[in-house]
Amino acid sequence: MSQTRRDFVKSTSLITGSLIAAPFLSEASMFNSLVDDTIKVALIGCGGRGTGAAIQALSTKQNVKLVAMADAFQDRLDSCYKEITGDDFENLKSKIDVPADRRFVGFDAYLKAIPLADVVILTTPPGFRPLHFEAAVNAGKHIFMEKPVATDPAGVQRVLAAAEKAKAKKLNVVVGLQRHYQTSYRELMKRLQDGMVGDVVSASAWWNNDGVWVNPRKAGQTEMEYQMRNWYYFNWLCGDHITEQHIHNIDVINWAKNSYPVKARGTGGREVRKGKDYGEIFDHHIVEFEYADGTILNSQCRHIKGTWAKVDELVVGTKGKIMFDAGHITDYKGNTLFKHNGSKDPNPYQVEHDELFEVIAKGQYKFADAENGAKSTMTSILGRMATYSGQVITWDKAINSGLDLAPKTFAWDADMPLKPDANGLYPVAVPGKTKFV
Ligand SMILES: NC(=O)c1ccc[n+]([C@@H]2O[C@H](COP(=O)([O-])OP(=O)(O)OC[C@H]3O[C@@H](n4cnc5c(N)ncnc54)[C@H](O)[C@@H]3O)[C@@H](O)[C@H]2O)c1
Repeated sequence: MSQTRRDFVKSTSLITGSLIAAPFLSEASMFNSLVDDTIKVALIGCGGRGTGAAIQALSTKQNVKLVAMADAFQDRLDSCYKEITGDDFENLKSKIDVPADRRFVGFDAYLKAIPLADVVILTTPPGFRPLHFEAAVNAGKHIFMEKPVATDPAGVQRVLAAAEKAKAKKLNVVVGLQRHYQTSYRELMKRLQDGMVGDVVSASAWWNNDGVWVNPRKAGQTEMEYQMRNWYYFNWLCGDHITEQHIHNIDVINWAKNSYPVKARGTGGREVRKGKDYGEIFDHHIVEFEYADGTILNSQCRHIKGTWAKVDELVVGTKGKIMFDAGHITDYKGNTLFKHNGSKDPNPYQVEHDELFEVIAKGQYKFADAENGAKSTMTSILGRMATYSGQVITWDKAINSGLDLAPKTFAWDADMPLKPDANGLYPVAVPGKTKFV
């Protein structure tokens, strides 16, 4: 009678080893009336996506409660708390139980929040993901973490190692590459896997649009604070936009190929992203990724206002092609082989939480997204290494390069590896001169 849902999940997981068998399900529902079945959630990184992810976790059908929040900055945590407890989310008020002493601030805030939860939401800038993911896995928590899951090969390797541990411990891990949870993509991929377009022989992926926010330097900020506030423009935190955004499209092609590229070559630079506020990242990358069977993925991403915009993927097979955004499969005579009307589809950002929390409530083990998340992150980093250096870079060389961009210590007065020059400008890669590591 005193057994909690968490004890139940733990003990049944240990007994059954893998997926909880069907007979347990009915027992589990009987248990619900006898035990506390609350699934406790901690949010690490209370910005835009973290706020959204917390709301989505609390909006699932399960008995979910937000019990802890952590952020590097007090003001970011406060605005998130204000938003989720505001009148717009009246229906969630009873599910938010985060008194001031469970709202943690600073670089070590994650260490205080993680132990209080069953499920941890990791939504900081991606540079911290390997550290936070490792900590959550070590603490034995189920995890929702946003993409990308790292910004350099050292971080990818850490996530891959922790992903193995998570599998061994049967911790569910969902990564916010939400196309995997989007009905149209699932329907199209099912048909690809059933052979409708034949063998995949080439592909294209695009993330071309205007770009994102800028947070200019404010008086009194240390270099660490400035880089953290303007994180999009620093590779140790963001990975450049080929990693931070275009990963979504690259990942779709990896999914279609059921493998990862063996090499990449490309070109890129910055045409309009000039000046003090734009750190070190490029504003365009064009990369040819090559898979082991010779298939080429033509990938392009651009953040330049006034240019044509497209965020999409195309897969070309021997019998037909798939246009993902249109939800359309055609043959080479222009006949429609399949068309998905997604107008009534559920929001994939909600689906990823609905599915995660449902299996947790049932005591099941189903999701192990971290390995693919890490390898698709690595694919995007491989592309960045190719455009920065202007060289052909192999997967093996890149992932084993040991490149680690993070500062040695996380403190507001830390000595930062990347510093501005006397004019406030940061060094930017020059293809042909910059080494890939
Ligand atoms: N799947 C998607 O479609 C999607 C959409 C948006 C963002 N994202 C991802 O979500 C992540 C967050 O993006 P965002 O737009 O919410 O950024 P954001 O800047 O709005 O939020 C990041 C938050 O993390 C906090 N933070 C930074 N370092 C921290 C640390 N060490 N410990 C605790 N908190 C820390 C920041 O203060 C901030 O509140 C990124 O990885 C981004 O790529 C995914």
